[in-house]
Amino acid sequence: MTAKTPGKVLIVDDDRNLLGLLKMRLETSGYIVTTALREQEAKEAVAGDVFDLAIVDLQLAEQDGISLMEDLHRVLPVMPVIILTAHGSIGSAVEAMRRGAATYLTKPFDARELILHIERAMENRRLTSEVSRLKGLLAERYGFENIVARSKAMERVLEVVSRIAPTDSTVYIHGESGTGKELIARALHLASTRKESPFVEINCAALPETLLESELFGHEKGSFTGAVRTSKGLFAQAHEGTIFLDEIGDMPLSIQSKFLRVLQERRFTPVGGERSVAVDVRVIVATNKDLDKQVAQGLFREDLYYRIHVIPLELPPLRERKEDIPLLVDHFLRKYGKQMNKDVKRLTPKAMQRLMLHDWPGNVRELENTIEYAMAMTRDDVIREDGVLPAKAGLSDGPLKPLKEAKDAFEKEYLINVLKVTRGNVSSAAELAGKYRADFYNLLKKYELNPGDFKKETASPK
Ligand SMILES: Nc1ncnc2c1ncn2[C@@H]1O[C@H](COP(=O)(O)OP(=O)(O)OP(=O)(O)O)[C@@H](O)[C@H]1O
Ligand SMILES: [Mg+2]
Repeated sequence: MTAKTPGKVLIVDDDRNLLGLLKMRLETSGYIVTTALREQEAKEAVAGDVFDLAIVDLQLAEQDGISLMEDLHRVLPVMPVIILTAHGSIGSAVEAMRRGAATYLTKPFDARELILHIERAMENRRLTSEVSRLKGLLAERYGFENIVARSKAMERVLEVVSRIAPTDSTVYIHGESGTGKELIARALHLASTRKESPFVEINCAALPETLLESELFGHEKGSFTGAVRTSKGLFAQAHEGTIFLDEIGDMPLSIQSKFLRVLQERRFTPVGGERSVAVDVRVIVATNKDLDKQVAQGLFREDLYYRIHVIPLELPPLRERKEDIPLLVDHFLRKYGKQMNKDVKRLTPKAMQRLMLHDWPGNVRELENTIEYAMAMTRDDVIREDGVLPAKAGLSDGPLKPLKEAKDAFEKEYLINVLKVTRGNVSSAAELAGKYRADFYNLLKKYELNPGDFKKETASPK
């Protein structure tokens, strides 16, 4: 058995006999027990000592046990409390749980049952404090404070992230565009022991096949036209660190087999090279596609899919976690307030409502850009409804268009806004949109937008 520090338990009951009996039983089981006959004694006890658990009778002399529990929780907020109730007072027991009791026990009970409850309550307490300790640790040290998560779904994601960060397992992040895949990938790296080593990222969709191969694996001088000198490749650059392969679903089949070898043997051969190179990397991949479908269509190797699918992380779309919106808005108000040196405090309730009603096809990135844009435009310290989401982009207005058309309309509108905010500076615009310059240019071409048109125009809200 592992030696553990004995738990300190406080028992509050106005029945002197029961108090004595419980004390004896718990001490036999190795607990250190303090007893209190009166409420006042209990309050004094928690003021002077830290208890791991309290047992409080529901019916006390001066106060009911629930309000005493609340008083104790004001001093020791995380101490689990077990409420003792008389037979037939199930209503109060439920009320006690609602107001923060760990559990309740109906009298008469036997000692074994009590011990079981105590152990379970302490174990739960240990687990929750472990999670919050991890969270606090991560927030402090690794910049988790930049990740806003209030929804249960996102909390779960962060919990998994904090648990798997220190391991070397391959992580598979799936989520729509703008849901925070890259943010999570970086957080994973920063929370790992590899954090002092490089974090290297590449978008597998951004380069043509041959270039992608030599980018990833490097090449020998002269191995193809344009290979004027030997290059190490990204896998080698990421040695002892993390490589983040974004849009893995777009990796061509020819490269997939080479990548699979890296995962299986931790070795690869540079383009035109003869000898294989060993590499120690943690791999994180991300995609917004349904890879099972790609597998079914023969576009993605099944064996590779299983290799990378070790730890799947699903980032839910923003429309499924709208409770995160107000917090994200605050976060972005602060972020851009600092950058723009503007003090915009809040959105009007109407403006917030508009955000809550919107469906956010571009997810968190779209929300971020909306707030940044609104902040750039406002001359006030509040943002009003006409300052966010031009009515055209709102899905709730007008007859519904087919998805493709609506997405295109949104994308174009969005590009125009980004170009306005950046006054036609393509590099900043691409960065703002989270796109590579080349991709961004392609988008501009698609919508026949000319960045020059935005150069002089002083941006103004429509
Ligand atoms: N939970 C969050 N808290 C704070 N900021 C967030 C959160 N999620 C996303 N963001 C911000 O939204 C933007 C988009 O996130 P990110 O680039 O990680 O998304 P992505 O899923 O990689 O998108 P894409 O598929 O288009 O590459 C970033 O600026 C990021 O900082
Ligand atoms: Mg991304």
